[in-house]
Amino acid sequence: MVISVIGVGYLGAVHAAAMAELGHEVIGLDVDAARITALQSGRAPFHEPGFEEILHRGLASGRLRFTTDYADIAGAEVHFLGLGTPQRKDGFGADLSHLEAATESLRAVLPARGGEPTLVVGKSTVPAGTARMLAGRLEQVEGVTLMWNPEFLREGFAVKDTLEPDRLVYGVRDPGTPAAEQAVAMLDAVYTALLTAGAPGW
Ligand SMILES: NC(=O)c1ccc[n+]([C@@H]2O[C@H](COP(=O)([O-])OP(=O)(O)OC[C@H]3O[C@@H](n4cnc5c(N)ncnc54)[C@H](O)[C@@H]3O)[C@@H](O)[C@H]2O)c1
Repeated sequence: MVISVIGVGYLGAVHAAAMAELGHEVIGLDVDAARITALQSGRAPFHEPGFEEILHRGLASGRLRFTTDYADIAGAEVHFLGLGTPQRKDGFGADLSHLEAATESLRAVLPARGGEPTLVVGKSTVPAGTARMLAGRLEQVEGVTLMWNPEFLREGFAVKDTLEPDRLVYGVRDPGTPAAEQAVAMLDAVYTALLTAGAPGW
């Protein structure tokens, strides 16, 4: 499948390389041009066991590439959101500004899919209600469904936890409806290798 990962920080870079390792065609996107240059050159911006190996393998295979241009991800069937959600400087809530900015940039290119089924999958850690708020914006575009698939990777084990997860959690609105079933089937297709290997789903 053709996949984008938006926000290739710690979580996103590992996820992008891991999805290429599973055989998908992956485009990692970030607004940090220096980070994109490093990743595209095979330089890991952080130390994580096994990451540089899968980064190099993905780049060498041609299945993994990186960009700063949202136009480059317009054709992807599945978009993962790996944006940071730090604590707000003025209070205890999460700062969702990166997630909201990325959602707006993504929404602008989604019509290029011409109404074909397109899945947006949030992986960031967010407060309750965030998915509903973002779905209200993204699902205005025909064919688009938003799901949430929170990440549980542990630093130092990020590659292993992504490729051999002990759980996969899906959040989808109105389960049982055709739109929800189609979205779940698309995410299952992304994770087929993990599900076949026995990762439990909730
Ligand atoms: N790091 C972990 O171990 C871990 C584990 C589980 C969950 N999480 C969650 O995952 C999320 C991401 O965490 P992280 O540690 O990878 O954050 P990070 O800060 O390392 O990465 C976020 C990336 O998003 C990029 N970005 C910001 N605005 C953008 C935009 N508009 N478009 C595209 N890219 C943009 C930043 O440049 C950065 O590279 C957070 O919600 C975090 O809580 C992290």
